[in-house]
Amino acid sequence: MPDTAPQASKPIEIWTRARIATMTTDRPYGLIDSGALAREGEKIVWVGESRDRPGDLKSRAREIHDVEGRCITPGLIDCHTHLVYAGNRAGEFEQRLLGATYADIAGQGGGIRATVRATRVARAEELFEQSLPRLRSLMSEGVTAVEIKSGYGLDVETELRMLSVIRRMGETLPVTVVPTYLGAHALPPEFEGKSDAYVDLICTDMIPRIARDRLACAVDAYCETIGFSPAQTERIFQAASDCRMPIRLHAEQFSDQGGAALAARFKALSADHLEYVSEAGVQAMAEAGTVAVLLPGAFYFLRETQVPPIQTFRDKKVPMAVATDCNPGSSPAGSLLLMLNMARTLFRLTPEEALAGATRNAARALRIDKRSGTLETGKNANFVIWDIAHPAELACGIGYRPPRVVYRRGRKVFTSQLTPPQGD
Ligand code: NIG
Ligand code: FE
Repeated sequence: MPDTAPQASKPIEIWTRARIATMTTDRPYGLIDSGALAREGEKIVWVGESRDRPGDLKSRAREIHDVEGRCITPGLIDCHTHLVYAGNRAGEFEQRLLGATYADIAGQGGGIRATVRATRVARAEELFEQSLPRLRSLMSEGVTAVEIKSGYGLDVETELRMLSVIRRMGETLPVTVVPTYLGAHALPPEFEGKSDAYVDLICTDMIPRIARDRLACAVDAYCETIGFSPAQTERIFQAASDCRMPIRLHAEQFSDQGGAALAARFKALSADHLEYVSEAGVQAMAEAGTVAVLLPGAFYFLRETQVPPIQTFRDKKVPMAVATDCNPGSSPAGSLLLMLNMARTLFRLTPEEALAGATRNAARALRIDKRSGTLETGKNANFVIWDIAHPAELACGIGYRPPRVVYRRGRKVFTSQLTPPQGD
């Protein structure tokens, strides 16, 4: 037997006197009323009621923080964004206020295609610089993981540039970035009248290359009358499955295309939007374990009136996530907290459902739930300390509940403390 020294334990940091919304499913919010949380390195090593804390934990602690009854939640997760793009579409916002619909604008070559034009001519550096404030905005509200889609390039070169910028964002800032390939976002102008040929390019060139080089974690598509047909979407899903890539889908935003059921057949991680999903679609999602990603920002900005079937999701036990859909057209939104508020006011989610939608269920939609989304021993120490006493207070109002401190993998990555006056 080799003579090995006992494993030296690392110093521990503890937060005490906290109300902890662990977001586990055993009780509402997984709430611990008078709790403590301890981390060793990047991981949570203990979380529970303070009175149950093992004795040796304190003796090994390097630092103990009294959070004075404040609430701790998991780091927030935004599981659907298109935040890497160039330019903006403020003009379209105005057109819509004057009566044009999202589909009208898309039909005239605007919408997603307008952003494609701006993104194709942007150098990687410009794309990165323009996208950074959007990611920072999310992070300043406690977001520690974010999904970012490609889909404003639609040619091989620009899609690959987008994916490399997306990757660089996660390497530059202390946030987990989960990239998704969304080649089937819109038909690129050079393929006008030849949409099947574009789908061929996606299936035979792009997906195998992206899978081989591990440039994205999933494949997404936009299945809609103004996007891709169910038959085309199915071909894309088949190509992704052949390359062992998981799928997700923009489904049933403006009409029922049967997209959610199709996605469920391919065991999709998520189906997103879902205003027009049928009961059969929800049933298929329930059986496949597909997460319903609700996007109240797009609903709000496009002044939609049909609400997703929230009660059916509840009845069939489909997990619901809530995300910003941050993009230049249908949801120019850099605030996940505002989306939580809107998920309640517009879709009538309970406060607990909304928070689960930006933590536990969002982690599941991104397949990062083994290490994040809830506060449990062994998971990453990604958490937020808020200036509130109970998680139901989170996002009750708009615009004034920034986190006090955000930790990711045990390290402080954001603090909202103002610099004291300089005494002028
Ligand atoms: O999720 N519907 C397609 N994609 C986005 C909109 C993107 C855009 O308008 O630029 C969405 O709403
Ligand atoms: Fe989207």
